[in-house]
Amino acid sequence: MTQPTDSQRPASEAFAITENPEAVLTTRPAVANENEPLLEVNKLAVSFPSSRGRQGRRGGGPSRVRAVNNVNLRIYPRQTLAVVGESGCGKSVTALSILRLVPMPPGQLESGSILWRHKDGQVMDLATVSDEQIRRIRGDEVAMIFQEPMTSLNPVYTIGEQILEAIYLHQHHLEPQQARDVAIEALDAVGIAAPASRLDEYPHQMSGGMRQRVMIAMALACQPRLLLADEPTTALDVTIQAQILELLRRLQQERHMSVLLITHDLGVVAENADAVAVMYAGRVVEYGSVHEVFNNPLHPYTQGLFGSMPVIGRTRSRLETIPGNVPDPSSFPSGCPFHPRCPKVEGDERCTGQDPPLLEIESGHWAACWHAPGYEAGQQTVPDVSYRRPVEEEASQGATTSV
Ligand SMILES: Nc1ncnc2c1ncn2[C@@H]1O[C@H](COP(=O)(O)OP(=O)(O)OP(=O)(O)O)[C@@H](O)[C@H]1O
Ligand code: SF4
Ligand SMILES: [Mg+2]
Repeated sequence: MTQPTDSQRPASEAFAITENPEAVLTTRPAVANENEPLLEVNKLAVSFPSSRGRQGRRGGGPSRVRAVNNVNLRIYPRQTLAVVGESGCGKSVTALSILRLVPMPPGQLESGSILWRHKDGQVMDLATVSDEQIRRIRGDEVAMIFQEPMTSLNPVYTIGEQILEAIYLHQHHLEPQQARDVAIEALDAVGIAAPASRLDEYPHQMSGGMRQRVMIAMALACQPRLLLADEPTTALDVTIQAQILELLRRLQQERHMSVLLITHDLGVVAENADAVAVMYAGRVVEYGSVHEVFNNPLHPYTQGLFGSMPVIGRTRSRLETIPGNVPDPSSFPSGCPFHPRCPKVEGDERCTGQDPPLLEIESGHWAACWHAPGYEAGQQTVPDVSYRRPVEEEASQGATTSV
């Protein structure tokens, strides 16, 4: 009989070991109020020593610079918030800060709160909870898929030992063979062939793409309520990428898991995200539902990102590019940080002299640009989009997730 492929299986089966009911975890209780954010990042600012500061080049400059500056994000249950932007704009530092994983020093949390709604309904500030509490949150409620697979897999332990550690966090009572079965299911679900034999291999025996999948399996085995996915599929070929994203989507719907999805791929955003934050030079420069931002990008930087993307059915002699690069935090320009690259500056002194705040220009759509249509009448509100795609029929029927 032909076995169903991963993408054909209901997500509720992923990692489940139905023959061992003892080992099956109960489904996470539904979040009491779907309309309350699971995570609120408020005015987050993270700095690093400047390469041009006191210890840097002659001529001085500030000793510390903000790689992330005044970032506000909201993530709701079952929502995917995508964070996009070019290399170096602060996406990873933002995600790492949520779990207090930025090395401090040299990093420093300059300001901000990271409000997390615990499963018992309590709200805690992850920026100030004890080391013990943040460790518990990391293992139990928020998982991260790191951009660099090798940094999070320990080279001296086998893949199996590392996955089992994550599984025992949640299923302390499992017999060794049962836990091993769960680990095999976890690897199988992310498309690793011959998973049983892979358990005894070390990370260096796997390709980069396989290590990435192992990390995804480990993160999901933690049963997180929030998954921080930093470029989770960039090392994978397109078919595995599609399977992984499909698996994430279905698990998300069944378990009400939320995802902070960092990606360069606007196609992945369009297909998977509900809301999107566009970052540039450590700031959020545009924010809204995917529908709003994709149909009506207000910020010249967002427009530039879309201009550099091929569109099926549209003929263009060449794709547009955004001239120049994201500056290093030590060299962020004054005024609007995008002004040296912006096609709309046109000698406007506001652009070169004043950093435009992020304003709500249309209902549920924020942008930080003096020239954005309607900016003058914009409101200074906190970016907050609770929109989620409707739950797919298939996933809503399977309320038996046992991952
Ligand atoms: N530990 C650190 N020490 C000093 N600077 C750092 C450190 N970590 C990050 N930075 C700086 O902070 C800025 C933002 O880095 P970040 O890794 O968040 O970028 P990113 O948007 O994730 O880029 P990419 O798409 O390449 O992953 C960069 O200029 C980077 O050099
Ligand atoms: S404020 Fe000026 S420089 Fe900045 S994005 Fe808008 S038009 Fe461009
Ligand atoms: Mg990064």
